[in-house]
Amino acid sequence: MVLLLCLFFFTTRTLALNTISPGQSIKDGQTLVSASGSFELGFFSPGNSKSRYVGIWYQKVSTGTAVWVANREASVSDASGVLSINDKGILSIMNGTKGIVWSSNTSRNSAEEPIARLLDSGNFVVKDPNDSDPENFLWQSFDYPCDTFLPGMKIGINFVTGFDRHISSWKSMEDPAPGLYSMRIDPRGLPQLVIKKGPNITSRGGSWNGRYITGRPQPTVNPVYLYEFFWNKNEAYYKYEMRNSSIFSRYLLNPVGLTQRSIWNERKNEWEVDSTSQADQCSIYDYCGSYATCSTNEFPPCKCLEGFMQGSASPGDLSSVDWSNGCTRRRPLTCDGGDSFLKQTGLKLPDTSKSWADISVDLKECEKLCLRNCSCTAYANLDIREGGHGCLLWFLDLIDITEFSKGGQDLYIRLATSDLEHIQSKGKLKEKQKATIIAISVIITCGMMILALWLYVRKKKLRKTGEHGKEDLELPVFDFAIIATATNNFSSNNILGQGGFGPVYKGTLIEGQEIAVKRLSKNSGQGLEEFKNEVTLISKLQHRNLVKLFGCCIRRDEKMLIYEYMPNKSLDYFIFDQTRSKLLDWRIRMHIVDGIARGVLYLHHDSRLRIIHRDLKASNILLDNNMKPKISDFGLARKFGVDQTQAKTRRVVGTYGYMSPEYALDGIFSTKSDVFSFGVLVLEILSGKKNRGFSRPEHDHNLLGHAWTLWIGKRPLELIDTALSDLYNATEVLRCINVALLCVQQSPLDRPNMSLVLLMLCGDSVLPQPKQPGFFIERNLPMTDSISEINEMFSIYESTITSLEPR
Ligand SMILES: *[C@@H]1O[C@H](CO)[C@@H](O)[C@H](O)[C@H]1NC(C)=O
Ligand SMILES: *[C@@H]1O[C@H](CO)[C@@H](O)[C@H](O)[C@H]1NC(C)=O
Ligand SMILES: *[C@@H]1O[C@H](CO)[C@@H](O)[C@H](O)[C@H]1NC(C)=O
Ligand SMILES: *[C@@H]1O[C@H](CO)[C@@H](O)[C@H](O)[C@H]1NC(C)=O
Ligand SMILES: *[C@@H]1O[C@H](CO)[C@@H](O)[C@H](O)[C@H]1NC(C)=O
Ligand SMILES: *[C@@H]1O[C@H](CO)[C@@H](O)[C@H](O)[C@H]1NC(C)=O
Repeated sequence: MVLLLCLFFFTTRTLALNTISPGQSIKDGQTLVSASGSFELGFFSPGNSKSRYVGIWYQKVSTGTAVWVANREASVSDASGVLSINDKGILSIMNGTKGIVWSSNTSRNSAEEPIARLLDSGNFVVKDPNDSDPENFLWQSFDYPCDTFLPGMKIGINFVTGFDRHISSWKSMEDPAPGLYSMRIDPRGLPQLVIKKGPNITSRGGSWNGRYITGRPQPTVNPVYLYEFFWNKNEAYYKYEMRNSSIFSRYLLNPVGLTQRSIWNERKNEWEVDSTSQADQCSIYDYCGSYATCSTNEFPPCKCLEGFMQGSASPGDLSSVDWSNGCTRRRPLTCDGGDSFLKQTGLKLPDTSKSWADISVDLKECEKLCLRNCSCTAYANLDIREGGHGCLLWFLDLIDITEFSKGGQDLYIRLATSDLEHIQSKGKLKEKQKATIIAISVIITCGMMILALWLYVRKKKLRKTGEHGKEDLELPVFDFAIIATATNNFSSNNILGQGGFGPVYKGTLIEGQEIAVKRLSKNSGQGLEEFKNEVTLISKLQHRNLVKLFGCCIRRDEKMLIYEYMPNKSLDYFIFDQTRSKLLDWRIRMHIVDGIARGVLYLHHDSRLRIIHRDLKASNILLDNNMKPKISDFGLARKFGVDQTQAKTRRVVGTYGYMSPEYALDGIFSTKSDVFSFGVLVLEILSGKKNRGFSRPEHDHNLLGHAWTLWIGKRPLELIDTALSDLYNATEVLRCINVALLCVQQSPLDRPNMSLVLLMLCGDSVLPQPKQPGFFIERNLPMTDSISEINEMFSIYESTITSLEPR
């Protein structure tokens, strides 16, 4: 979304100059333009306001975007304002009655004939024209930033003069006076970047680790921006540059305290936000309290560090707990040599305002230093380059720590040695348990193999005598009591989501294994038939892109399925959400598409059975820790014989928007109807939009139709989710769209099979042109909304059946 900050009211009469000297002035209506025409300076009015301000904006960007305002706190009420420079180098704005509304403050003795010049960086400077040093200014607007952080600007503190350059928000969209929020360097301890509301920190960008600011996991080199942090005893500042200086970029701190980094997209003529602060609760300063970590992908997000526990609250009931008090030590520090350190990895390092740093001290020495002072609670490497060097010590409480799923840093946390031993022995016990479990499973597996062999031989014998053995469930049956304990007696706090057939609970078995329990409500639509179907089918399937079924549990009319737990919920939770979709960069999306394709290929061709899933959709793709996709929900899946290619049903089940035409209209399903659903899924992953419910003012097509229109209009890249900005590989995107459109073609015979799909996705062969997709106009669906999807909007582990009675 473009944040249209300001509308300008200025006449088009421009002085195409970039410099004024004493005696010259800029009247309201005249402007200065920087040498290459990037920036323009003059009088403007923000928003609907009538007040006049002197500001700088992009000359080439048609939506006026003021990046700096001179007289923030005192406007000129009419068009009588004049900006001039005197022979001392002082800039001033005067109103119609020659009253001085604003003036610059130059402390240094100026040159004789100073000039004021608007530079191509957007910096408005006063300098001695005979001074050959291009960086020696008597005054510069970059020293007094407003709400915009531009490439080349420094924000930070001069420890000698005490001068503090910082970004401050506007009061409102129409009032550029300094608002409540500021982005600045906090000089206490190791300097770090913070956002403040008044005197209080609201969000912490973090300190610098030699390569990047620690507040974000940054596993790769940023291809667009170049960041720099400088720190010595005189000065600490943070700045950035564009790797390609012809790209416009800005950081904006808006009046409600959010920062948005955006890039100007010339093609679309709009600002594209490519990064936002406070996208989740973990970016709120000190959200979890002291000695706790925050993890975006988990619920609840807060967790005590190892060796710490929550003060008052009862364990287990985490979601309702107030975390403001954080965690406390399980055992106090001894402070006399009885303490050790536990290494935690993948973290955003804690607040460094009470820290001490020295680049020349190594990690071993760092540990010793920490042990020597009783209030030292943790240490880490100051600089992560070249395998890490330097020493950073923390004193007193550790606060504002985030646990990243990838990236992040190592932190050594001080604990009482006895407690550390306890934690380590617990770890060893787990190892031991694992070993025991493995041993037992080996024995059981062997036993089962012998049993199976025996049964097989016996079955054969029985067959010979004309009898048929019943198909057994090859699946562990869990005891109801175990599941009840694991889910805290089906506590509502453990509910992960509400599917069409009942709630899904998170559970933890006594061994620590996390599980997801799908409990079919007694009056649910999913009958015993589908339950058995799912159990028998999935228990025979094993693939890294299919969700693992651990077992089932049946008690009287209560039926439950026990799956592996997926911490990252399902794909729809991410791709259809404005903020979360930013977490899925192009690489991750590509891996997800690839993973789904492999999962479906396994179902169709590689497993012992030939299975049609019939309900492939975003909410049935679960995501593991590493965002690897796993196909779930086999309640509607059908098994085919080896030489069977299609089947017909009178009961069409599935989800609108993903169903192929021949299935929805005639009840004919085959591997090609899954291919169709896969194609829809890929388009949804690329665009971040749902196929069903998609609408555009210019046509009544659904997402398929929209993709098709763009494709034949030779502008397919417009389909891409704006959350990706321009950070994708256009060749890969085109290939993906092409394959997806081949998958959703009207005729099943035209659609490729899954092995071809995978080949086309991974290879670099020339792809065939797709024909028109099926069902590309929303209204040509035969069904009305009266047969509605069940809970599609908010379910996480949902299981949807839309049923169409035979026509
Ligand atoms: C001009 O500015 C002076 C000083 O700020 C102020 O006293 C005066 O009222 C202003 N005049 C007009 C016409 O706004
Ligand atoms: C200029 O700076 C000095 C010292 O920092 C201050 O006392 C004075 O008020 C400032 N003048 C203006 C016009 O801001
Ligand atoms: C700048 O240099 C020119 C040429 O050397 C000289 O004529 C002029 O007086 C100088 N101006 C100032 C302000 O020193
Ligand atoms: C800062 O925090 C204090 C204490 O929590 C609170 O009373 C105050 O209102 C906060 N200030 C702002 C500007 O939010
Ligand atoms: C820099 O960006 C401009 C405009 O987007 C582009 O035309 C140019 O090729 C880029 N230069 C480099 C070196 O990438
Ligand atoms: C421990 O470190 C803190 C913070 O740097 C300091 O104030 C305190 O004097 C130190 N204590 C000892 C015993 O060195």
